[in-house]
Amino acid sequence: MTDKKVTLTLQDNTAVELDVMHGTLGQDVVDVRALGNKGLFTFDPGFTSTASCESKITFIDGDEGILLHRGFPIDQLATHSNYLEVCYILLNGEAPTQEQFEEFRVTVTRHTMIHEQITRLFHGFRRDSHPMAVMCGVTGALAAFYHDSLDVNIERHREIAAFRLLSKMPTMAAMCYKYSIGQPFVYPRNDLSYAGNFLHMMFATPCEEYKVNPVLERAMDRILILHADHEQNASTSTVRTAGSSGANPFACIAAGIASLWGPAHGGANEATLRMLEEISTVDHIPEFVRRAKDKNDSFRLMGFGHRVYKNYDPRATVMRETCHEVLNELGMKDDLLEVAMELEHIALNDPYFIERKLYPNVDFYSGIILKAMGIPSSMFTVIFAMARTVGWIAHWKEMHDEGMKIARPRQLYTGYTERPFTSALKK
Ligand code: CMC
Repeated sequence: MTDKKVTLTLQDNTAVELDVMHGTLGQDVVDVRALGNKGLFTFDPGFTSTASCESKITFIDGDEGILLHRGFPIDQLATHSNYLEVCYILLNGEAPTQEQFEEFRVTVTRHTMIHEQITRLFHGFRRDSHPMAVMCGVTGALAAFYHDSLDVNIERHREIAAFRLLSKMPTMAAMCYKYSIGQPFVYPRNDLSYAGNFLHMMFATPCEEYKVNPVLERAMDRILILHADHEQNASTSTVRTAGSSGANPFACIAAGIASLWGPAHGGANEATLRMLEEISTVDHIPEFVRRAKDKNDSFRLMGFGHRVYKNYDPRATVMRETCHEVLNELGMKDDLLEVAMELEHIALNDPYFIERKLYPNVDFYSGIILKAMGIPSSMFTVIFAMARTVGWIAHWKEMHDEGMKIARPRQLYTGYTERPFTSALKK
């Protein structure tokens, strides 16, 4: 909606009227598209002040610490819903009836197996490959196996691809782990929940029965819910950018996985655990906090800070609670949790962190939970990717459903002006 305008006066005193757009929540947005015709671009590296698209999926108010999926608060979803129901909500916009949910659940569950030939792809990787490298490769390669539904202009094809990705991600994620430890791949079990089936494929072996612990199953489900979507973050924007050229969905999600891998984004959960291990005891914390504040040291406190949240990350609150539940269930007193709690306490009372509004984010606690479950840190970002796949697909689908332009930003060129070329090579 737009009923206000702002006027920009250019150097030659001509005025350009720009529409001000209002969403249902959040800041107003100035529509700068008219500027291109006037020979001007806007400059916003890192997109700190740019809305790249219109979306109805997720809303974040970073100052208030609010996160809504299709209007539903994240803490209510984490407490009263399950991951597949959240997937339905993200993809369809409304909470499902019991019947709609059953149909959705059955469709996801019935497509969890991957083409058997894909197992051979895994064997092409070194066993010590980082599982994110394998995930990236194998996800992109799905396009070579499921080319019956790759026409992104056909809605039904988009729907089939969405179900395939959602269903097969846990299978491939668990295969990455099994491959890395040299154990046989475990086939999915359709009688288990999404989270339960993932734990089964991670920890079952052909030699003995694996019983899914309901507390760990619930914790895994919560981790998946809390990572399901987060509006236009780096990986989601990457998926949208890749998709805007009409690229196939498997290629787009592989691009999202690649972007997620970075330590400033999804790689932060692995980096947080490594940092806590490096700190190792509470008495080392002051030294690490000092380093985080030193401008000449590149070290940052991993799991702290967020581009959008300038308040406590609402996902971190739920994650903290789940962390305690899991450690209680397993009867573990984790030294790293002790370090994490003390670090949180010290940072939250330090003027450097207070002034910059740096609070623990979702990744601060998730690593401790996953480690307690027996999951190695190299798998943390893979699990994040598995959870975020639904968000990526929801955005990719929304972009196609509503019509799109290819993403093509411009630049402020600061290189050489034109100059004559003379080759120094011997001819
Ligand atoms: N430790 C120490 N100082 C920090 C940290 C940190 N973790 N994060 C930000 N700062 C400082 C930064 O040095 C800067 O200080 P100054 O104003 O004096 O130059 C100020 O806070 C603002 O930082 P920024 O880099 O301009 O903020 P940004 O919005 O560009 O970056 C961030 C956000 C998440 C990349 C950053 O906070 C960070 O690197 N955090 C650690 C990595 C992390 O935990 N990432 C996970 C994010 S949540 C999961 C996800 O969405 O993927």
